[in-house]
Amino acid sequence: MNYADHQLGIYLQGMFADQKPAITTDLAALEHAAATVLAPEALGYITPSAGSGATAAANRAAFDRWRIVPRMLRGSAQRDLSTTVLGTAMPAPVMIAPVGIQTLAHPDGELATARAAAALGLTYVHSTQSAHSFEQVAEASGDGARWYQLYWPTDPDVCVSFLERAKAGGYTTLVVTLDTTLLGYRPRDLDRGFLPFLHNVGIANYLTDPAFLAKLAKPVDEDPRAATLHWAQMFPNPGLSWADLPFLREHWDGPIVLKGICAVDDARLAADHGMDGIVVSNHGGRQVDGAAGSLDVLPGIAEAVGDRLTILFDSGVRTGSDVFKALALGAQAVLIGRPFLYGLALAGQAGVDHVLRCLLAELDLTLALSGYGTHRDLTPEALLPT
Ligand code: FNR
Repeated sequence: MNYADHQLGIYLQGMFADQKPAITTDLAALEHAAATVLAPEALGYITPSAGSGATAAANRAAFDRWRIVPRMLRGSAQRDLSTTVLGTAMPAPVMIAPVGIQTLAHPDGELATARAAAALGLTYVHSTQSAHSFEQVAEASGDGARWYQLYWPTDPDVCVSFLERAKAGGYTTLVVTLDTTLLGYRPRDLDRGFLPFLHNVGIANYLTDPAFLAKLAKPVDEDPRAATLHWAQMFPNPGLSWADLPFLREHWDGPIVLKGICAVDDARLAADHGMDGIVVSNHGGRQVDGAAGSLDVLPGIAEAVGDRLTILFDSGVRTGSDVFKALALGAQAVLIGRPFLYGLALAGQAGVDHVLRCLLAELDLTLALSGYGTHRDLTPEALLPT
């Protein structure tokens, strides 16, 4: 598929039908556009990162330190962006990052995103903290590829039940997020005293879970506060350790990916513990303020474990050329976080579709213009450190 055709389509619409894109095609400007439509609380939850914002700034700075070195006359008329990651076929090495409470961006929330992803053939990763349940998202996603992201609850019965529901719902790979065993220190939310989970928003998976509900004295609608407290007791799980991982293997027979890996030694431990993959990520800078830029740690991790693990990447990816850089530095696929949320805020499913098509078009054009017929040929040689 030539995603670059999207660019031609936009020009044709503009010149012959006098139709301009409803949302900007400038992917770096989406945050600004979304800020005009999002409620202050939603904007404060989605956009800022932890503490002073230093980690999100480091994520962007890391991309700016690499420049693409385009090669000429290499015959890149036909491009192939397809790939297979842990058994999941993908038309392009781009996935939807797990993001909770998407109803903050748009009333259709996760359902709109899952539909947009499925229509494009991209893999959707369902967050434990979604505003819609496993089953609702699976229905919206239909035949679309989907993975499940686990926030590991302290209650093992709920954990096993989540894994069983994910399996039954057609989620094929388990992504275990390790960097959020506690919520990061987020002043924008703290200043507003804003945490939607405490209003039972973003805990749909729990509120529809038999193991969770079995431990409540009364139905949720009779005592919603008790349900909130029950969730609040099982979400924080800072005691997790490497020794706990066999529990997941026992209850999940598909691939397992650890998300939130920043250190080379942790990447090695993931491989030593028989994991299938990792997501090199600092959660978009939302957890530890002053953490290393995600792209800064990618090359060292790729070199250390690239032959043992599938390496995925997120945090700070905004454009197609960012995706190009992450792939060149060793990622097999890239997860997109905030940009799709901005599209969702601006126009629901159509907005997510727009953002993803633009990003894929720019990736495709960047590959073609840099002399690559496929992203699989990318190596660090495609880049120049500055
Ligand atoms: C997230 N992220 C996230 N990660 C996760 O594993 N489970 C989750 O529920 C959430 N929720 C969430 C909400 C919001 C509003 C944001 C912005 C992010 C992190 C996400 O998966 C990904 O790591 C980052 O978004 C990547 O960084 P960028 O692309 O946003 O810079």
